[in-house]
Amino acid sequence: MEKIIVCGGKPLRGSVRVQGAKNAALPILAACVLLSGVTTIENCPDLSDVRAACAILRRLGCTVERSGHTLTVDSRFVSCYTIPNELMREMRSSIVFLGSVLARTGKAVLCAPGGCAIGRRPIDLHLSALRALGAEIDEQNGVLCCRARQLCGAVISLPFPSVGATENALLAAVTARGNTLLCGAAREPEVDDLVLFLNRCGAAVRRTPRGDLFVRGTPWLHGCRHRVIPDRIAALTVMAAVGAAGGDVLLQDAPPAPLEAAIGVFRRAGCSVEPGEHTLRIAAAGRLRAVPCIRTLPHPGFPTDGQAAVMAMLCTAQGTTKIEETIFENRFHHVAALRQMGACIRLHGRTAEVEGVPFLRGAAVSACDLRAGASLVVAGLGARGVTVIRGVRHIDRGYEKIEACFKTLGAQIERSADSGPEQPKSE
Ligand code: UD1
Repeated sequence: MEKIIVCGGKPLRGSVRVQGAKNAALPILAACVLLSGVTTIENCPDLSDVRAACAILRRLGCTVERSGHTLTVDSRFVSCYTIPNELMREMRSSIVFLGSVLARTGKAVLCAPGGCAIGRRPIDLHLSALRALGAEIDEQNGVLCCRARQLCGAVISLPFPSVGATENALLAAVTARGNTLLCGAAREPEVDDLVLFLNRCGAAVRRTPRGDLFVRGTPWLHGCRHRVIPDRIAALTVMAAVGAAGGDVLLQDAPPAPLEAAIGVFRRAGCSVEPGEHTLRIAAAGRLRAVPCIRTLPHPGFPTDGQAAVMAMLCTAQGTTKIEETIFENRFHHVAALRQMGACIRLHGRTAEVEGVPFLRGAAVSACDLRAGASLVVAGLGARGVTVIRGVRHIDRGYEKIEACFKTLGAQIERSADSGPEQPKSE
């Protein structure tokens, strides 16, 4: 077990390259199951969640090799359709393997992912989309047994633009017989990266002018070379840290378009944000202003994954910010730790009212999920004194060496071994 120790209050300066997107890399790795070939995936971050996805691929019969940030996946000989519980539990988004394993082998057996700290996280939309494509699915004692002799294209209507359900339906539909129209599909940039990847492998997927996804089923997909898009949430986390600690930072590999809603929030808070073609420069000095209302929404709205980091930043803004979490019913676990650091936050169901205090104080706190952990790093970087963050393995699920990133920008931040107690796993 490890802890991160931050000595806060030092402005961040310099430039840093943003890592590849975890939430794009994971469904792309799941998509590899569909391919009869060898695939090279560049800009693949080295994270515990990515390692868990690689372990699943190996279990299914693929070979996976990493060289720096490039993964080579040989999926010519997929031989297995069962994903054992321990691999499913490693990472909640492993459910996205359901569609591709079913499409490739005609069967899939895996345990249903349970709830977690940020909410119930049901999979009913995933299952009904797969059933619409012809899958038979039985669920007994938490184990999902899926069969489909031949998946057939269908019109699927998602009542909510679920990212996971969109990806699962897409993975099952690309090699199905006939055409599929996925109405109400998620529009997250990571879904578009999956579409780009699949098309490079020979699939025929396009967005309709309404934003639905139209898939022309193709019987066979080959390998390709693909570069994973930059991680917009990792970029947003650094931006929040600059807002909290002050400074002037150039983010490289940070295309501004996917961050448009977030950039608006940073500007309203008083940060200066200069978008380039593939870069973002953010600067902040003095006390930020509260933002009257932030509401998390499906893309292109403000991302739920950025809510915790931006809340940490706004804990010391002048005035009161209202933050409404509309995606998950229970995503305010960072509030307790932020209060330990002196934040004044009132919770009313899915809304948090953050009344800015002049400063946060360093404290011993614990990360209970990935984005909550990132928010504690942001809070620690802006706080007076020393913050000790435990539960670092949650942060490692989504951020590649978070302390090294902030060290490059001049922060006093270290990782060290820890023998203290840890929290259960989530997100
Ligand atoms: C969500 C986020 C995604 C983020 C990820 C990890 C959205 C729209 N999605 O994706 O940006 O990266 O968490 O934090 O912001 N739901 C159902 N039934 C289902 C599937 C989902 O009711 O079968 C509900 C969930 O309970 C939740 C909402 O839909 O309230 C969002 O779900 P979804 O987009 O599927 O979640 P993820 O794919 O995990």
